[in-house]
Amino acid sequence: MLEKMGSWRRTSYCGEPASADIGKKICLMGWVQRRRDHGGLIFIDLRDRAGIIQLVFSPESLNNVHAKAHDLRNEFVVAVEGLVRKRPDGTENQNLPTGQVEIEVHEIRVLNDSETLPFMIEDDSDVAETTRLTYRYLDLRRPALQKKLMLRHKVAMATRNYLAENGFIEVETPVLTKSTPEGARDFLVPSRLNAGHFFALPQSPQLFKQILMISGFDRYFQVVKCFRDEDLRADRQPEFTQIDAEMSFVDREDVISVMEGLVVRMFNETGVKLNPPFPRLTYAEAVGRFGVDNPDVRFGLELKDLTRDLSGSGFKVFADAAAKGGVVKAICVPGGGAFSRKDLDDLTEVAVSFGAKGLAWVKITDEGWQSPIAKFLSDAEKDAIAKATGAVKGDLLLFGADKAAIANTVLGRLRLNIGNRLGLIPKDVLNFVWVTDFPMFEYDEAEKRHVAVHHPFTSPMDEDLDKLESAPLTVRAKAYDLVLNGSEIGGGSIRIHRSDVQSRVFEMLGIKSDEAHSRFGFLLDALKFGTPPHGGIAFGLDRVLSIMTASDSIRDVIAFPKTQKGTDLMTDAPSVVDQKQLDELFIRVAKKQSVAPSSTGA
Ligand code: AMO
Ligand code: AMP
Repeated sequence: MLEKMGSWRRTSYCGEPASADIGKKICLMGWVQRRRDHGGLIFIDLRDRAGIIQLVFSPESLNNVHAKAHDLRNEFVVAVEGLVRKRPDGTENQNLPTGQVEIEVHEIRVLNDSETLPFMIEDDSDVAETTRLTYRYLDLRRPALQKKLMLRHKVAMATRNYLAENGFIEVETPVLTKSTPEGARDFLVPSRLNAGHFFALPQSPQLFKQILMISGFDRYFQVVKCFRDEDLRADRQPEFTQIDAEMSFVDREDVISVMEGLVVRMFNETGVKLNPPFPRLTYAEAVGRFGVDNPDVRFGLELKDLTRDLSGSGFKVFADAAAKGGVVKAICVPGGGAFSRKDLDDLTEVAVSFGAKGLAWVKITDEGWQSPIAKFLSDAEKDAIAKATGAVKGDLLLFGADKAAIANTVLGRLRLNIGNRLGLIPKDVLNFVWVTDFPMFEYDEAEKRHVAVHHPFTSPMDEDLDKLESAPLTVRAKAYDLVLNGSEIGGGSIRIHRSDVQSRVFEMLGIKSDEAHSRFGFLLDALKFGTPPHGGIAFGLDRVLSIMTASDSIRDVIAFPKTQKGTDLMTDAPSVVDQKQLDELFIRVAKKQSVAPSSTGA
């Protein structure tokens, strides 16, 4: 029989009662985590967002409490009144913050019941993620997830406080807007009032924050949802949250120093004290030494350039790569001589999946250099390789010979793979590094045109400006990323604030002036009316939190995330809509999917 809460009100959360409260009468409300029936006494663990406390029901109690406790099941919602008392000696639970005390229940009201759950509410359950996401409301009852979301709240509050204290003003920007090119596909929203016209959901508030600088707001921030229709990975969601900021009359160092302060403040919420300034790497250094622009600098296995040493090699693959303007690089895996044939096949597969044509390797053994390519290498070449890589007996060398972009990517990926495989990556450190001096453009082979490495509003470096048209691939941008443990947690730049430079950059990107006007005319116009020099950054809040909480996926720090297939299993979105709705939008679906997309899992 369910009862009413009536005039009862909570006096504390379940996680609160402690020795200092012994003897107090209190009222608690929460969920039944567990019932243990000892024949005489019944024990209930009662849970709310603050923690768990043990309730004791004695057969001698008045108000029928023992019989009521007998009928309680997991996740029933109850209110109890009772006395905080010391647990009998020897029955304290050191693992529970409330473990020194228990509640002698004098009265209980059963506020609601619960059907048998699809899974237990406990932290270390091995329930499939698809089931957890379908019943996200139950999943979110787990203390671990509650802690993560509470930390998220605290980090967002700390962010708002820090930025407000530093003169930043939070301004909301539209969600129904026009495409902003951040390099992903747009989510489109059809306009009913303007048949055949579409809004795009913002990939970021980039243009609006620049407009706000033009409007004189000087320092802007927003904790804001961004939408990108891209292939999802463990650190990517189609809608995610940025801490987005922009500042006027600044250069890179101003942005970096204010933002280091913000990062300190965010990590302070986890009790971590950071000591900026964070180390820096130029893009060229990062890619050269680690193969990627988001280097995980927690471990070694750095890439070594052997192009000069091996340009005349008898191994044709090496000599050819060098002759064609490519590179020959290697990583040395200490102790990798013990890798099996299968390990090497696996690594070759990884290399090939990132574009390598093969993976030459050498094991340095007691008998010398063991390798399919050893016979092609002269002694002088072997010496040079050993010197550059520091390889000694027992080590493994892995080579990449290709265009620089491919060799770097391949060895950079192998480095991470091997770092994980051999447990070389310390889990309990936070290594921040700013990556600066990105190239302005890269050449997209598929599209046969230059594309912006950051975004088209990023300023070229002043000293490279006159090479914009003549040598675009050598032009560096005033862009910077903050990388934490190999994850890009933030990125930004100093922007173009002159309309003539913006037009030249659009031109270089193959955006013709009429197209530039139809897509970004408002910005090009605005740039003509007194635009201050400005720049900013955006942090990926979800990524920051997933690292702070050592989560496997950013889904764990988002209350209602999408699956890897971009679906929401709880609400079953996306879903088909009524024909009437489509008609109103003048939309005809060319081909219907027969299977509900959500049934394909996480
Ligand atoms: P950028 O595209 O680098 O820059 O994005 C900024 C940060 O947002 C995070 N992020 C993501 N997190 C989760 N899922 C995603 N799909 C996703 N995509 C990006 C990353 C990234 O560093 N307007 C510029 C910022 C600027 O120039 O000020 C921008 O959006 O942590
Ligand atoms: P092959 O001469 O093609 O039999 O190759 C000899 C070894 O070099 C094999 O282990 C290949 O995997 C490797 N290899 C081939 N091409 C490359 C390349 N571009 N970079 C590194 N190793 C390669």
